[in-house]
Amino acid sequence: MSKPVANRVRPVPAQGLISNRESERADLVVVANRLPVQHSSSNGSEGWRPSPGGLVSALTAVLQSRNGLWIGWSGTSEHQDAPLTFEGIRLKAVNFSKAEFDDFYLGFSNATLWPLYHDAIRAPTFHRAWWQTYSNINMRYAIAAAESVAPGGSVWIHDYQLQLVPQMLRQLRPDVRIGFFLHIPFPPIELFMQLPWRREILAGLLGSDLIGFQVRQAASNFSRMARRQSSATGTDSSLDFHGRVIRVGAFPISVDCEQIVALANDPTIRARAREIRKDLGDPELVLLGVDRLDYTKGIQQRIKAVSELFQDGSLSADKHIMVQVAVPSRETDAHYDLERHSLEQIVSEVNGEHGLVGRPTINYLHQNLPFEELVALYLAADIMIVTPFRDGMNLVAKEYVMCRTDLTGRLVLSEFAGAAAELGGAFMVNPHDLEGIKEAIRLAIIVGPKEEKDRMSRMRRKIVRRNVYDWAESFLAALQQTGS
Ligand code: F6P
Repeated sequence: MSKPVANRVRPVPAQGLISNRESERADLVVVANRLPVQHSSSNGSEGWRPSPGGLVSALTAVLQSRNGLWIGWSGTSEHQDAPLTFEGIRLKAVNFSKAEFDDFYLGFSNATLWPLYHDAIRAPTFHRAWWQTYSNINMRYAIAAAESVAPGGSVWIHDYQLQLVPQMLRQLRPDVRIGFFLHIPFPPIELFMQLPWRREILAGLLGSDLIGFQVRQAASNFSRMARRQSSATGTDSSLDFHGRVIRVGAFPISVDCEQIVALANDPTIRARAREIRKDLGDPELVLLGVDRLDYTKGIQQRIKAVSELFQDGSLSADKHIMVQVAVPSRETDAHYDLERHSLEQIVSEVNGEHGLVGRPTINYLHQNLPFEELVALYLAADIMIVTPFRDGMNLVAKEYVMCRTDLTGRLVLSEFAGAAAELGGAFMVNPHDLEGIKEAIRLAIIVGPKEEKDRMSRMRRKIVRRNVYDWAESFLAALQQTGS
């Protein structure tokens, strides 16, 4: 059982008690829930490995060029021996106990904020004890940042788990520039108002000099909310709060285009893509879904749509196949466990009804695949289906598009993914509209080669204009201009 709330509140240290030697402090500090390394014990060997993804590469690159340091959680309460450096940057681990993990990570971050910020697709749960731990853990990150940043340096805080850190850090270190980027959506006023601690979260974020969101709508939701529930005044892009100016804007995140194109052109990966199609039985058409197994991703809805297309004869089991990769995620959370079970039941029903011997209609993988294998799948797929009910950006959609160097391939995309603002060449769907998803897939099946190519080149042009490195540099450039 966790301790009573009152005993768990950690006092705010007085200013001036920050102890690290100044010479050891970093000019730029990234503060994120997780470190860029994760502990794993796969293939018989135990150890720390780099976390996959373009975000880690981009942030590592900006830290390497700026005497940087990364603060984050090691991802485990068992192994508290996280490395002190990674690819030339310094790391500082923030550790939590099992009880804190339950209240901070599973509780307030992923059972209160996550559903609330994703259109309340599942009812958010509000617990005062979770809030208290969220606040305590945010203070732990803020202290770690205050101890690590050089005088006049910059701190870039990431995501919904750490929304109180900007204000806490400002109290500890008023001399530093503070940027915050929210990777997930910021909800409309009507939903955010449900949060019993809405004023505290707003005040937390308003401790920043620059607040970045994935899309303009989220930035505007936030600024409107701040004007309504705090003393902030101003516009959607600039707020005055307690005598300071806070810039607010959209900084759509992207992918590492060069790395993806290089992998997509790699002869071994192209051969693997051909092998995948062969293993699937050389179908005429491969449909693909790749998602973290999360109830926000609309995976079940998509499988239902595909199932009905098999039912009505638009798809047929001897010619068409779908591959669905569901990457295991937050497995100790009951909502995620339930989502997995319902999804697996639907997949097995569809396969039972429409599959042939040796040929399932849905080839389902509940696995964490290496990125090279995902690229091979992207190359093997004729149609990629991305149908989240709400998503901050959705990098899978951008990865698929970047892999299609020969300009073939069709993307069916939810209009509620941040990526929809940039990927106008996709077949857009309302993920709540089953008939709409079916119609978009039908259109994607029959589209002619010229239109397919036009759509794909439009999307690729948009993405290559701003890769994930440009995203990081543009945020930091905007942060540098604040307060001047
Ligand atoms: O999209 C928000 C995010 O926190 C990502 O940063 C992360 O990759 C994903 O959700 C899964 O998060 P976690 O495993 O840390 O809960």
